[in-house]
Amino acid sequence: MSNSNTPIHVTVTGAAGQIGYSLLYRIASGQMLGADQPVVLRLLEIEPAMKALEGVIMELDDCAFPLLQDVVATSDLKTAFDSTSWALLVGSIPRKAGMERNDLLNINGGIFGPQGRAINDYASDDVRILVVGNPCNTNCLIARSAAPDIPADRWFAMTRLDQNRARSLIAKRVGVSVEDVSGLVIWGNHSSTQFPDFENAQVQGKPLESVVNDRTWLEGDFITTVQQRGAKIIEARGASSAASAANAAIDSVVSVVNPTRKGDCVSLAVVSQGEYSIPEGLQFGFPVVSDGKSWKIIEGLSHDSFAQERIRLTTEELLSEREAVKALL
Ligand code: NAD
Ligand code: LMR
Repeated sequence: MSNSNTPIHVTVTGAAGQIGYSLLYRIASGQMLGADQPVVLRLLEIEPAMKALEGVIMELDDCAFPLLQDVVATSDLKTAFDSTSWALLVGSIPRKAGMERNDLLNINGGIFGPQGRAINDYASDDVRILVVGNPCNTNCLIARSAAPDIPADRWFAMTRLDQNRARSLIAKRVGVSVEDVSGLVIWGNHSSTQFPDFENAQVQGKPLESVVNDRTWLEGDFITTVQQRGAKIIEARGASSAASAANAAIDSVVSVVNPTRKGDCVSLAVVSQGEYSIPEGLQFGFPVVSDGKSWKIIEGLSHDSFAQERIRLTTEELLSEREAVKALL
């Protein structure tokens, strides 16, 4: 079946890396933008990885994806972001065992300003950006700051992997499907201070807390397991999460461009306009709903003193990351 829709250009940075290797094939097969939507992939890599990228592209060709109209491989920022409507900023160094994600700021922070500028100058007017490379909230802030012409609501950093982890953990604990767990979102930073908000979540429409019926576990092991999951995967695999990270990137974009399931919300780190007293301008994990065209933060949720303290801690961390990179903003 031929497809006459105009292709959407999607840029993936770090395309020859681990996440890239899971992500590109899913975009090209239509899992991100839809089964009728042709795409052009614009793949950015650094020079030393261009050879590996050639192999990745041979495999894309060998999949014979009907929706994949073209692939551009480049180490040039202008070419990478030219006419792009979705920029998935993955390319950066992953942490090693024993590191926190924000230990990467010195190494990775410098990547995102130039990319933000190139997006500002060359991307399509409708561009939206998802930052995956860690520490993703602050890298997103850096890129956004370099792109004054791009509206702030186009920028997302990825807290969806944490949300997926939290939902899966609860579903297993109480023996339901992940689809039965709703409203469970991550507040703040994609880091070990994030707060998976069990207080505002539901299982099969009932308050999650009443179904789990173990506040000590929720306050303790549940939160810690979600916060430390990335580190545990590095410990076990010797490399950071890749397939689940690519899956969460797909989920993130899908959740922006499609209406949110009724009664649910999704986790995205979006720019704070002061909601819930979070300082303006931070790229902060919030509960978000989308109508498929625009998104908004769910307002009016309440937090007890335990949750307020958790949100304070993750806010403090993001403020200190912002302070640490102020020369880049
Ligand atoms: P990887 O090392 O396998 O791949 C990274 C790729 O980026 C490499 O191919 C490298 O050549 C490329 N790269 C480096 N600098 C670049 C630059 N300036 N421009 C373009 N490309 C560049 O790493 P990975 O496992 O794919 O992880 C990538 C990033 O994603 C890491 O920072 C990791 O911590 C992060 N991550 C985030 C989440 C999340 O939930 N937000 C989840 C998993 C991983
Ligand atoms: C994750 O959450 O798996 C990623 O952010 C990788 C990491 O460093 O933990």
